[in-house]
Amino acid sequence: MSTTDRELRVGMVGYAFMGAAHSQAWRTVNRVYDLPARARMALICGRDTGKVADAADRLGWDAYTTDWRDLISRDDIDVVDVCTPGDSHAEIALAALAAGKHVLCEKPLANTVAEARAMTAAADTARAAGVRSMCGFNYRRVPAVTMMRQLVADGRLGVIRHVRATYLQDWIVDPQFPLVWRLQKDRAGSGALGDIGAHIIDLTQFVTGQRITGVSAVTETFVKERPLPAGSSGLAASVDGSGSVDGNAPATGPVTVDDAAVFVARLDGGALATYEASRFATGRKNALRVEINGSLGSVVFDLERLNELEFYDATRPSVEQGFSRILVTEGEHPYMSAWWPPGHIIGYEHSFTHQMRDFIEAVATGADPAPSFADALQVQLVLDAVTRSAEIGSSWTEVQPALAAVAV
Ligand SMILES: NC(=O)c1ccc[n+]([C@@H]2O[C@H](COP(=O)([O-])OP(=O)(O)OC[C@H]3O[C@@H](n4cnc5c(N)ncnc54)[C@H](O)[C@@H]3O)[C@@H](O)[C@H]2O)c1
Repeated sequence: MSTTDRELRVGMVGYAFMGAAHSQAWRTVNRVYDLPARARMALICGRDTGKVADAADRLGWDAYTTDWRDLISRDDIDVVDVCTPGDSHAEIALAALAAGKHVLCEKPLANTVAEARAMTAAADTARAAGVRSMCGFNYRRVPAVTMMRQLVADGRLGVIRHVRATYLQDWIVDPQFPLVWRLQKDRAGSGALGDIGAHIIDLTQFVTGQRITGVSAVTETFVKERPLPAGSSGLAASVDGSGSVDGNAPATGPVTVDDAAVFVARLDGGALATYEASRFATGRKNALRVEINGSLGSVVFDLERLNELEFYDATRPSVEQGFSRILVTEGEHPYMSAWWPPGHIIGYEHSFTHQMRDFIEAVATGADPAPSFADALQVQLVLDAVTRSAEIGSSWTEVQPALAAVAV
Protein backbone atom coordinates (compact mmCIF):
# COMPACT_ATOMS: atom_id res chain seq x y z
CA MET A 1 0.00 0.00 0.00
CA SER A 2 1.44 3.35 -1.07
CA THR A 3 2.41 5.79 1.66
CA THR A 4 3.21 8.82 -0.53
CA ASP A 5 1.20 12.02 -1.03
CA ARG A 6 2.69 12.71 -4.43
CA GLU A 7 0.21 12.21 -7.26
CA LEU A 8 0.64 11.44 -10.95
CA ARG A 9 -2.59 12.47 -12.63
CA VAL A 10 -3.27 10.11 -15.53
CA GLY A 11 -5.28 10.83 -18.68
CA MET A 12 -6.03 7.74 -20.79
CA VAL A 13 -7.18 7.64 -24.43
CA GLY A 14 -9.30 4.60 -25.44
CA TYR A 15 -11.52 2.59 -23.14
CA ALA A 16 -12.03 -0.79 -24.80
CA PHE A 17 -9.71 -3.84 -24.49
CA MET A 18 -6.45 -2.17 -23.47
CA GLY A 19 -8.33 0.71 -21.84
CA ALA A 20 -9.94 -1.79 -19.50
CA ALA A 21 -6.68 -3.65 -18.85
CA HIS A 22 -4.80 -0.42 -18.12
CA SER A 23 -7.62 0.88 -15.91
CA GLN A 24 -7.46 -2.24 -13.80
CA ALA A 25 -3.71 -1.77 -13.43
CA TRP A 26 -3.88 1.95 -12.58
CA ARG A 27 -6.57 1.12 -9.99
CA THR A 28 -4.56 -1.64 -8.40
CA VAL A 29 -0.94 -0.61 -8.57
CA ASN A 30 -0.77 1.66 -5.51
CA ARG A 31 -2.81 -0.76 -3.42
CA VAL A 32 -0.21 -3.47 -4.01
CA TYR A 33 3.13 -1.66 -4.29
CA ASP A 34 4.61 1.05 -2.09
CA LEU A 35 5.71 3.59 -4.71
CA PRO A 36 7.10 7.14 -4.61
CA ALA A 37 3.93 8.46 -6.30
CA ARG A 38 0.25 7.55 -6.49
CA ALA A 39 -1.58 7.21 -9.79
CA ARG A 40 -4.78 9.22 -9.91
CA MET A 41 -7.24 8.10 -12.61
CA ALA A 42 -8.10 11.66 -13.53
CA LEU A 43 -9.48 11.72 -17.07
CA ILE A 44 -10.55 9.16 -19.66
CA CYS A 45 -11.08 9.93 -23.34
CA GLY A 46 -13.27 8.36 -26.02
CA ARG A 47 -15.15 9.80 -28.98
CA ASP A 48 -18.71 8.82 -28.03
CA THR A 49 -20.11 10.82 -25.07
CA GLY A 50 -22.46 8.14 -23.78
CA LYS A 51 -19.96 5.31 -24.07
CA VAL A 52 -17.03 7.20 -22.54
CA ALA A 53 -19.24 8.42 -19.67
CA ASP A 54 -20.22 4.82 -19.01
CA ALA A 55 -16.57 3.72 -19.25
CA ALA A 56 -15.47 6.42 -16.78
CA ASP A 57 -18.06 5.18 -14.30
CA ARG A 58 -17.41 1.46 -14.84
CA LEU A 59 -13.61 1.65 -14.92
CA GLY A 60 -13.21 4.19 -12.11
CA TRP A 61 -12.10 7.48 -13.72
CA ASP A 62 -12.83 10.88 -12.14
CA ALA A 63 -13.97 12.55 -15.36
CA TYR A 64 -14.23 12.04 -19.12
CA THR A 65 -13.72 13.96 -22.36
CA THR A 66 -14.48 13.27 -26.02
CA ASP A 67 -11.36 14.96 -27.43
CA TRP A 68 -7.85 13.68 -26.62
CA ARG A 69 -6.53 17.21 -27.10
CA ASP A 70 -8.21 18.07 -23.76
CA LEU A 71 -5.81 15.67 -22.04
CA ILE A 72 -2.90 17.45 -23.64
CA SER A 73 -4.00 21.03 -22.93
CA ARG A 74 -4.95 20.56 -19.29
CA ASP A 75 -2.43 21.53 -16.60
CA ASP A 76 -3.80 18.95 -14.18
CA ILE A 77 -2.72 15.93 -16.27
CA ASP A 78 0.82 14.57 -15.79
CA VAL A 79 0.69 11.29 -17.74
CA VAL A 80 -0.96 10.45 -21.07
CA ASP A 81 -1.72 6.74 -21.55
CA VAL A 82 -2.34 5.88 -25.22
CA CYS A 83 -4.67 2.86 -25.67
CA THR A 84 -5.94 3.54 -29.19
CA PRO A 85 -5.24 1.72 -32.48
CA GLY A 86 -1.85 2.39 -34.06
CA ASP A 87 -3.02 5.07 -36.50
CA SER A 88 -3.33 7.63 -33.69
CA HIS A 89 -0.31 6.69 -31.52
CA ALA A 90 2.12 9.10 -33.19
CA GLU A 91 -0.19 12.11 -33.26
CA ILE A 92 -1.27 11.76 -29.63
CA ALA A 93 2.17 10.88 -28.25
CA LEU A 94 3.94 13.69 -30.12
CA ALA A 95 1.43 16.26 -28.88
CA ALA A 96 1.63 14.93 -25.31
CA LEU A 97 5.44 14.98 -25.23
CA ALA A 98 5.51 18.51 -26.68
CA ALA A 99 3.17 19.56 -23.86
CA GLY A 100 5.49 18.07 -21.24
CA LYS A 101 3.33 15.03 -20.38
CA HIS A 102 4.93 11.69 -19.56
CA VAL A 103 3.69 9.12 -22.10
CA LEU A 104 2.87 5.44 -21.89
CA CYS A 105 2.00 4.22 -25.39
CA GLU A 106 0.61 0.80 -26.31
CA LYS A 107 2.50 -1.42 -28.74
CA PRO A 108 3.38 -1.49 -31.53
CA LEU A 109 4.77 2.01 -31.04
CA ALA A 110 3.54 3.23 -34.43
CA ASN A 111 2.27 2.12 -37.82
CA THR A 112 5.46 3.04 -39.71
CA VAL A 113 9.19 3.38 -39.12
CA ALA A 114 8.95 7.10 -39.99
CA GLU A 115 6.38 7.65 -37.22
CA ALA A 116 8.41 5.60 -34.75
CA ARG A 117 11.54 7.62 -35.57
CA ALA A 118 9.67 10.88 -35.03
CA MET A 119 8.30 9.63 -31.70
CA THR A 120 11.77 8.52 -30.60
CA ALA A 121 13.24 11.90 -31.52
CA ALA A 122 10.49 13.66 -29.57
CA ALA A 123 11.04 11.35 -26.59
CA ASP A 124 14.78 12.16 -26.62
CA THR A 125 14.06 15.89 -26.67
CA ALA A 126 11.47 15.57 -23.90
CA ARG A 127 13.83 13.48 -21.76
CA ALA A 128 16.18 16.45 -21.51
CA ALA A 129 13.32 18.30 -19.82
CA GLY A 130 12.61 15.41 -17.43
CA VAL A 131 9.68 14.02 -19.42
CA ARG A 132 9.58 10.19 -19.58
CA SER A 133 8.15 7.78 -22.15
CA MET A 134 7.62 4.06 -22.42
CA CYS A 135 6.03 1.53 -24.80
CA GLY A 136 3.62 -1.07 -23.44
CA PHE A 137 5.25 -4.42 -24.12
CA ASN A 138 3.58 -5.86 -21.03
CA TYR A 139 4.74 -9.47 -21.42
CA ARG A 140 8.19 -8.38 -20.23
CA ARG A 141 6.54 -7.96 -16.85
CA VAL A 142 5.30 -11.52 -16.43
CA PRO A 143 7.49 -12.67 -13.50
CA ALA A 144 8.51 -15.89 -15.28
CA VAL A 145 9.65 -13.86 -18.33
CA THR A 146 11.67 -11.46 -16.19
CA MET A 147 13.19 -14.49 -14.48
CA MET A 148 14.11 -15.99 -17.87
CA ARG A 149 16.06 -12.82 -18.58
CA GLN A 150 17.83 -13.10 -15.23
CA LEU A 151 18.83 -16.72 -15.93
CA VAL A 152 20.32 -15.66 -19.28
CA ALA A 153 22.04 -12.60 -17.77
CA ASP A 154 23.49 -14.73 -14.95
CA GLY A 155 25.06 -17.02 -17.55
CA ARG A 156 22.96 -20.06 -16.55
CA LEU A 157 22.23 -20.85 -20.21
CA GLY A 158 25.77 -20.21 -21.44
CA VAL A 159 26.06 -19.09 -25.05
CA ILE A 160 22.62 -18.68 -26.63
CA ARG A 161 22.32 -20.77 -29.81
CA HIS A 162 18.58 -20.93 -30.57
CA VAL A 163 15.50 -18.79 -29.98
CA ARG A 164 12.14 -20.34 -30.95
CA ALA A 165 9.13 -18.07 -30.59
CA THR A 166 5.48 -18.51 -31.56
CA TYR A 167 2.45 -16.34 -30.89
CA LEU A 168 -0.71 -18.01 -32.17
CA GLN A 169 -4.38 -16.98 -32.21
CA ASP A 170 -7.47 -18.14 -34.14
CA TRP A 171 -10.04 -15.33 -33.82
CA ILE A 172 -10.35 -14.69 -37.59
CA VAL A 173 -10.35 -18.28 -38.90
CA ASP A 174 -14.03 -17.76 -39.84
CA PRO A 175 -14.06 -15.92 -43.22
CA GLN A 176 -17.26 -14.20 -42.07
CA PHE A 177 -15.47 -12.50 -39.18
CA PRO A 178 -15.75 -8.79 -40.04
CA LEU A 179 -13.15 -6.36 -41.33
CA VAL A 180 -12.21 -4.76 -37.99
CA TRP A 181 -9.45 -2.12 -37.66
CA ARG A 182 -6.84 -4.80 -36.96
CA LEU A 183 -7.33 -6.06 -40.55
CA GLN A 184 -6.78 -2.64 -42.16
CA LYS A 185 -3.23 -1.52 -42.92
CA ASP A 186 -3.98 2.21 -42.63
CA ARG A 187 -5.32 1.67 -39.11
CA ALA A 188 -3.09 -1.12 -37.77
CA GLY A 189 0.13 -0.82 -39.80
CA SER A 190 0.32 -4.60 -40.27
CA GLY A 191 -1.62 -7.69 -39.21
CA ALA A 192 -0.53 -10.61 -37.05
CA LEU A 193 3.02 -9.36 -37.56
CA GLY A 194 2.70 -6.02 -35.74
CA ASP A 195 -0.07 -7.06 -33.37
CA ILE A 196 1.37 -10.25 -31.88
CA GLY A 197 4.67 -10.75 -33.73
CA ALA A 198 5.86 -7.47 -32.17
CA HIS A 199 5.37 -9.01 -28.71
CA ILE A 200 7.62 -12.01 -29.35
CA ILE A 201 10.23 -9.83 -31.06
CA ASP A 202 10.41 -7.58 -28.00
CA LEU A 203 10.18 -10.45 -25.52
CA THR A 204 13.00 -12.49 -27.08
CA GLN A 205 15.28 -9.47 -27.47
CA PHE A 206 14.54 -8.52 -23.84
CA VAL A 207 15.26 -12.02 -22.53
CA THR A 208 18.42 -12.68 -24.54
CA GLY A 209 19.82 -9.15 -24.52
CA GLN A 210 20.46 -9.68 -28.24
CA ARG A 211 18.98 -7.78 -31.16
CA ILE A 212 17.70 -9.13 -34.46
CA THR A 213 20.03 -8.08 -37.27
CA GLY A 214 18.44 -9.68 -40.33
CA VAL A 215 15.46 -11.79 -41.43
CA SER A 216 14.03 -13.96 -44.19
CA ALA A 217 10.23 -13.92 -44.10
CA VAL A 218 6.98 -15.14 -45.60
CA THR A 219 3.61 -13.57 -44.91
CA GLU A 220 0.14 -14.54 -46.10
CA THR A 221 -3.37 -13.15 -46.16
CA PHE A 222 -5.57 -16.25 -46.32
CA VAL A 223 -8.93 -14.46 -46.45
CA LYS A 224 -8.69 -11.43 -48.69
CA GLU A 225 -12.21 -9.98 -48.42
CA ARG A 226 -14.42 -9.72 -45.34
CA PRO A 227 -17.82 -8.30 -44.32
CA LEU A 228 -17.80 -4.77 -42.95
CA PRO A 229 -18.14 -4.54 -39.15
CA ALA A 230 -20.99 -2.96 -37.20
CA GLY A 231 -18.83 -2.53 -34.12
CA SER A 232 -15.77 -3.99 -32.48
CA SER A 233 -13.75 -4.07 -29.29
CA GLY A 234 -10.48 -5.88 -28.82
CA LEU A 235 -10.77 -9.20 -30.66
CA ALA A 236 -14.61 -9.28 -30.76
CA ALA A 237 -16.86 -7.80 -33.44
CA SER A 238 -20.24 -8.02 -35.22
CA VAL A 239 -21.11 -7.76 -38.90
CA ASP A 240 -22.86 -4.72 -40.41
CA GLY A 241 -25.84 -5.89 -42.54
CA SER A 242 -26.88 -2.37 -43.55
CA GLY A 243 -24.61 -2.14 -46.60
CA SER A 244 -26.13 -5.31 -48.06
CA VAL A 245 -26.35 -5.20 -51.85
CA ASP A 246 -28.96 -7.91 -52.35
CA GLY A 247 -30.61 -7.86 -48.95
CA ASN A 248 -28.74 -10.95 -47.76
CA ALA A 249 -24.97 -10.71 -48.12
CA PRO A 250 -23.37 -7.90 -46.10
CA ALA A 251 -21.10 -5.42 -47.88
CA THR A 252 -17.45 -6.44 -47.85
CA GLY A 253 -14.01 -4.82 -48.05
CA PRO A 254 -10.42 -5.97 -48.70
CA VAL A 255 -8.14 -7.25 -45.94
CA THR A 256 -4.96 -5.21 -46.35
CA VAL A 257 -2.72 -6.82 -43.73
CA ASP A 258 -1.08 -10.22 -43.18
CA ASP A 259 -3.00 -13.00 -41.46
CA ALA A 260 0.24 -14.78 -40.62
CA ALA A 261 3.96 -14.02 -40.66
CA VAL A 262 6.78 -16.55 -40.36
CA PHE A 263 10.45 -15.67 -40.38
CA VAL A 264 13.94 -16.83 -39.53
CA ALA A 265 16.37 -14.36 -38.02
CA ARG A 266 19.94 -13.85 -36.85
CA LEU A 267 20.66 -12.17 -33.51
CA ASP A 268 23.70 -10.00 -32.91
CA GLY A 269 25.07 -12.39 -30.26
CA GLY A 270 25.23 -15.22 -32.78
CA ALA A 271 21.93 -16.99 -32.10
CA LEU A 272 19.61 -18.32 -34.81
CA ALA A 273 15.92 -17.63 -34.28
CA THR A 274 12.53 -18.62 -35.70
CA TYR A 275 9.34 -16.63 -35.26
CA GLU A 276 5.73 -17.44 -36.14
CA ALA A 277 2.78 -15.10 -35.63
CA SER A 278 -0.64 -16.22 -36.84
CA ARG A 279 -4.34 -15.50 -36.37
CA PHE A 280 -5.17 -18.72 -38.22
CA ALA A 281 -3.85 -21.29 -35.75
CA THR A 282 -7.16 -23.05 -35.16
CA GLY A 283 -7.63 -23.89 -31.49
CA ARG A 284 -4.87 -21.56 -30.30
CA LYS A 285 -6.48 -18.62 -28.49
CA ASN A 286 -3.56 -16.58 -27.24
CA ALA A 287 -0.70 -19.05 -27.31
CA LEU A 288 2.64 -17.33 -26.76
CA ARG A 289 5.55 -19.73 -26.34
CA VAL A 290 9.28 -19.08 -26.27
CA GLU A 291 12.11 -21.60 -25.98
CA ILE A 292 15.75 -20.65 -25.68
CA ASN A 293 18.61 -23.13 -26.01
CA GLY A 294 22.09 -22.29 -24.76
CA SER A 295 25.36 -24.16 -24.38
CA LEU A 296 24.66 -24.77 -20.66
CA GLY A 297 20.90 -25.12 -20.58
CA SER A 298 17.47 -24.33 -21.97
CA VAL A 299 14.45 -22.42 -20.77
CA VAL A 300 10.81 -22.48 -21.91
CA PHE A 301 7.94 -20.07 -21.27
CA ASP A 302 4.30 -20.71 -22.19
CA LEU A 303 1.76 -17.92 -21.55
CA GLU A 304 -1.00 -20.48 -20.93
CA ARG A 305 1.05 -21.55 -17.88
CA LEU A 306 2.39 -18.12 -17.04
CA ASN A 307 3.32 -18.87 -13.44
CA GLU A 308 5.77 -21.53 -14.58
CA LEU A 309 9.14 -21.79 -16.23
CA GLU A 310 10.75 -24.95 -17.58
CA PHE A 311 14.49 -24.98 -16.99
CA TYR A 312 17.04 -27.52 -18.17
CA ASP A 313 20.40 -27.23 -16.44
CA ALA A 314 23.02 -29.12 -18.46
CA THR A 315 25.66 -28.56 -15.76
CA ARG A 316 23.93 -31.01 -13.42
CA PRO A 317 25.16 -34.65 -13.29
CA SER A 318 23.83 -36.45 -16.38
CA VAL A 319 21.82 -38.90 -14.27
CA GLU A 320 19.84 -36.00 -12.77
CA GLN A 321 19.30 -34.01 -15.93
CA GLY A 322 15.84 -33.15 -17.21
CA PHE A 323 13.52 -30.18 -17.56
CA SER A 324 12.41 -28.95 -14.16
CA ARG A 325 9.25 -26.96 -13.58
CA ILE A 326 9.81 -23.82 -11.53
CA LEU A 327 6.71 -22.28 -10.00
CA VAL A 328 7.51 -18.56 -10.21
CA THR A 329 5.47 -17.48 -7.18
CA GLU A 330 8.07 -17.10 -4.43
CA GLY A 331 8.49 -13.71 -2.80
CA GLU A 332 12.05 -13.63 -4.19
CA HIS A 333 10.78 -13.93 -7.76
CA PRO A 334 10.42 -10.71 -9.80
CA TYR A 335 7.36 -8.60 -8.84
CA MET A 336 5.99 -11.34 -6.55
CA SER A 337 6.87 -9.99 -3.11
CA ALA A 338 3.77 -7.78 -3.05
CA TRP A 339 1.30 -10.47 -4.10
CA TRP A 340 0.11 -13.66 -2.45
CA PRO A 341 1.77 -16.49 -0.50
CA PRO A 342 3.88 -18.91 -2.63
CA GLY A 343 1.78 -21.03 -4.97
CA HIS A 344 -1.12 -18.54 -5.05
CA ILE A 345 -0.89 -17.82 -8.72
CA ILE A 346 -1.31 -14.60 -10.71
CA GLY A 347 -2.69 -13.94 -14.23
CA TYR A 348 -2.63 -11.90 -17.44
CA GLU A 349 -3.77 -8.64 -15.86
CA HIS A 350 -0.88 -8.62 -13.38
CA SER A 351 1.56 -7.92 -16.20
CA PHE A 352 -0.15 -4.53 -16.64
CA THR A 353 0.00 -3.77 -12.92
CA HIS A 354 3.74 -4.52 -13.03
CA GLN A 355 4.04 -2.28 -16.10
CA MET A 356 2.41 0.63 -14.21
CA ARG A 357 4.60 -0.08 -11.18
CA ASP A 358 7.79 0.26 -13.23
CA PHE A 359 6.48 3.31 -15.08
CA ILE A 360 5.45 5.18 -11.90
CA GLU A 361 8.70 4.27 -10.17
CA ALA A 362 10.76 5.62 -13.09
CA VAL A 363 8.76 8.82 -13.53
CA ALA A 364 8.75 9.59 -9.82
CA THR A 365 12.48 8.98 -9.39
CA GLY A 366 13.54 10.70 -12.63
CA ALA A 367 14.75 7.49 -14.28
CA ASP A 368 14.09 6.28 -17.82
CA PRO A 369 11.49 3.49 -17.98
CA ALA A 370 11.99 0.56 -20.36
CA PRO A 371 11.12 -0.34 -23.02
CA SER A 372 11.87 3.16 -24.25
CA PHE A 373 10.53 4.56 -27.52
CA ALA A 374 14.01 3.83 -28.92
CA ASP A 375 13.61 0.15 -27.94
CA ALA A 376 10.18 0.12 -29.58
CA LEU A 377 11.62 1.78 -32.71
CA GLN A 378 14.06 -1.12 -32.96
CA VAL A 379 11.07 -3.55 -32.88
CA GLN A 380 9.42 -1.44 -35.59
CA LEU A 381 12.58 -1.75 -37.71
CA VAL A 382 12.37 -5.54 -37.40
CA LEU A 383 8.68 -5.47 -38.45
CA ASP A 384 9.74 -3.36 -41.43
CA ALA A 385 12.52 -5.79 -42.39
CA VAL A 386 10.07 -8.73 -42.21
CA THR A 387 7.59 -6.91 -44.46
CA ARG A 388 10.30 -5.98 -46.98
CA SER A 389 11.73 -9.50 -47.03
CA ALA A 390 8.28 -11.03 -47.65
CA GLU A 391 7.76 -8.59 -50.54
CA ILE A 392 10.96 -9.68 -52.30
CA GLY A 393 10.46 -13.43 -52.20
CA SER A 394 11.90 -13.97 -48.72
CA SER A 395 15.33 -12.59 -49.62
CA TRP A 396 17.65 -12.01 -46.69
CA THR A 397 16.93 -8.49 -45.39
CA GLU A 398 19.03 -6.57 -42.88
CA VAL A 399 17.27 -4.70 -40.08
CA GLN A 400 17.99 -1.01 -40.66
CA PRO A 401 20.05 0.62 -37.93
CA ALA A 402 18.09 2.97 -35.70
CA LEU A 403 20.72 5.70 -36.27
CA ALA A 404 19.81 9.18 -35.11
CA ALA A 405 16.05 9.48 -34.90
CA VAL A 406 14.92 12.04 -37.46
CA ALA A 407 11.76 14.08 -36.88
CA VAL A 408 9.29 14.08 -39.80
N1 LIG B 1 -0.16 -5.04 -24.64
C1 LIG B 1 -1.03 -5.93 -25.12
O1 LIG B 1 -0.99 -7.10 -24.78
C2 LIG B 1 -2.07 -5.47 -26.10
C3 LIG B 1 -3.24 -6.22 -26.29
C4 LIG B 1 -4.21 -5.72 -27.16
C5 LIG B 1 -4.02 -4.53 -27.82
N2 LIG B 1 -2.86 -3.83 -27.62
C6 LIG B 1 -2.63 -2.54 -28.32
O2 LIG B 1 -3.46 -1.56 -27.69
C7 LIG B 1 -3.94 -0.64 -28.66
C8 LIG B 1 -5.48 -0.65 -28.62
O3 LIG B 1 -5.95 -1.96 -28.89
P1 LIG B 1 -7.34 -2.49 -28.28
O4 LIG B 1 -7.37 -3.96 -28.45
O5 LIG B 1 -7.55 -1.91 -26.93
O6 LIG B 1 -8.37 -1.83 -29.31
P2 LIG B 1 -9.93 -1.63 -29.11
O7 LIG B 1 -10.52 -1.56 -30.47
O8 LIG B 1 -10.46 -2.62 -28.13
O9 LIG B 1 -10.00 -0.19 -28.41
C9 LIG B 1 -9.56 0.98 -29.07
C10 LIG B 1 -10.10 2.18 -28.31
O10 LIG B 1 -9.57 3.38 -28.89
C11 LIG B 1 -10.63 4.32 -29.05
N3 LIG B 1 -10.23 5.27 -30.08
C12 LIG B 1 -9.84 5.04 -31.34
N4 LIG B 1 -9.50 6.17 -31.95
C13 LIG B 1 -9.66 7.16 -31.03
C14 LIG B 1 -9.48 8.56 -31.05
N5 LIG B 1 -9.04 9.18 -32.15
N6 LIG B 1 -9.74 9.28 -29.92
C15 LIG B 1 -10.16 8.66 -28.81
N7 LIG B 1 -10.37 7.32 -28.73
C16 LIG B 1 -10.12 6.60 -29.84
C17 LIG B 1 -11.83 3.44 -29.39
O11 LIG B 1 -13.04 4.13 -29.21
C18 LIG B 1 -11.61 2.32 -28.37
O12 LIG B 1 -12.08 2.72 -27.09
C19 LIG B 1 -3.35 -1.07 -30.00
O13 LIG B 1 -2.18 -0.37 -30.23
C20 LIG B 1 -3.04 -2.54 -29.77
O14 LIG B 1 -1.99 -3.04 -30.59
C21 LIG B 1 -1.91 -4.26 -26.76
